[in-house]
Amino acid sequence: MRAHEAGWAHAAVSVRGPSWLPEPADVNALVPLLWSSTARKDQDGVLEVGGVAVTDLVAEHGSPAYVLDEADFRSRARAFKQAFSEYDVYYAGKAFLCTTVARWVAEEGLCLDVCSGGELTVAERAGVDPARIGFHGNNKSLDELTRAVDLGIGRIIVDSFHEIGRLTEIVAAGSPTGAPRTARVMVRVTAGVEAHTHEYIATAHEDQKFGFSISSGDALAAVAQIHATPGLELLGLHSHIGSQIFDSSGFEVAARRVLALHAQISEEVGVELPEMDLGGGFGIAYTSQDDPADPAQLAIEMTKIVTEECKVRDLAVPKLSIEPGRAIVGPAMCTVYGVGTVKAVELDGGAVRTYVSVDGGMSDNIRTALYDADYSATLASRSSDAPVLLSRVVGKHCEAGDIVVKDEYLPGDIAPGDLVAVPGTGAYCWSMASNYNHVLRPPVIAVLNGRSRVVVRRETEDDLLATDMGAAGDEQG
Ligand SMILES: Cc1ncc(COP(=O)(O)O)c(C=O)c1O
Repeated sequence: MRAHEAGWAHAAVSVRGPSWLPEPADVNALVPLLWSSTARKDQDGVLEVGGVAVTDLVAEHGSPAYVLDEADFRSRARAFKQAFSEYDVYYAGKAFLCTTVARWVAEEGLCLDVCSGGELTVAERAGVDPARIGFHGNNKSLDELTRAVDLGIGRIIVDSFHEIGRLTEIVAAGSPTGAPRTARVMVRVTAGVEAHTHEYIATAHEDQKFGFSISSGDALAAVAQIHATPGLELLGLHSHIGSQIFDSSGFEVAARRVLALHAQISEEVGVELPEMDLGGGFGIAYTSQDDPADPAQLAIEMTKIVTEECKVRDLAVPKLSIEPGRAIVGPAMCTVYGVGTVKAVELDGGAVRTYVSVDGGMSDNIRTALYDADYSATLASRSSDAPVLLSRVVGKHCEAGDIVVKDEYLPGDIAPGDLVAVPGTGAYCWSMASNYNHVLRPPVIAVLNGRSRVVVRRETEDDLLATDMGAAGDEQG
């Protein structure tokens, strides 16, 4: 390619964007579906969330930073609670959890799903009522289960015969004070349905680590074993079919299979289980190609499936529950990064890709590298009239796959010192963050009505070294 006389940023290059990504009519405008409800740009093109300019946030707290829109989080939690008014709605803490958010969840009337001793500790510190906590995980230790039983956790979702064995041991032993122990239990089943985004796959066999297989008979055997164990109270079946699901068809197939087992349990074990959990996985918009369903619509469709199926089978409708994580916290957060370098890279055939390097990366958002996830981005600190360039937002880590946003049109004059914001980073970003390259995990800053507060502070280098025994001078020779 011949260089343009005004520089690469002005050359009429052919670009290689994905077919779904149209060149924006106005690169300064936000696509509302991707952002939390209070996000907007001011007249200078500065992104504001919760009435706070991200330039002010960065001036005070530095970058990168996760910005959490409290009003948006609460309204999404409320929308699920209202749409699924007959259900128990468990917020899936694995998506993002800190004590502040656990308190918001409780205040909005939702229950909380945790899946490790660590998440349970956060819930405890936040003062969440243990009776409103569900405890998940495919390998809960004896210690974790003992703690959950002694805390009076509302339900423990068992995932293997080993866990049933551990729980049996715990309840049989009684508490250290001699009081009897009981545990409320659900059985996680694999319905042979795997759902991702617009597609689901229904198969006869389930090749994954979670749950008891319905088709092999393990699920029924687990139910019978729990039912026969004094001290274990069997609440019902649990099914979670996947993530980033956009319509109810996968839930429909799964619900029918789970209800068939529910009916079989009624006939063969002689117990009509009072509850059933249909899991989480409700999708959100990461890019303009995504079109997630409204919770109210999902509620109507899911309830209809269960009600009809119970009617046909002459069964009482069990108390239903769901476990949304991403759909509540995902859109409520964005990540603000500082731009450090901008590089034009010539591709085969003369196309150019603009690499915009930011001050975070795969340590604060692993989803692009791990799942090939798509994100979008906007210039957040000013507006620009420059022609757009197809860009790739990359991190600062020693890894070529350290990509935050694979493809986005950004203004061609983007430069070091600018801020870039990535929407939809509330779920599975901070919670999956790492210290790769000894990079510090960013803070989570909640914003509401023009005010901000740090709900998780930025890590310090002392935090990094806190477990390094050599640095502490305690190294054993
Ligand atoms: C059992 C269970 N419930 C709920 C969720 C939450 O899923 P999402 O955040 O996609 O709603 C998950 C996610 O992995 C899960 O495994």
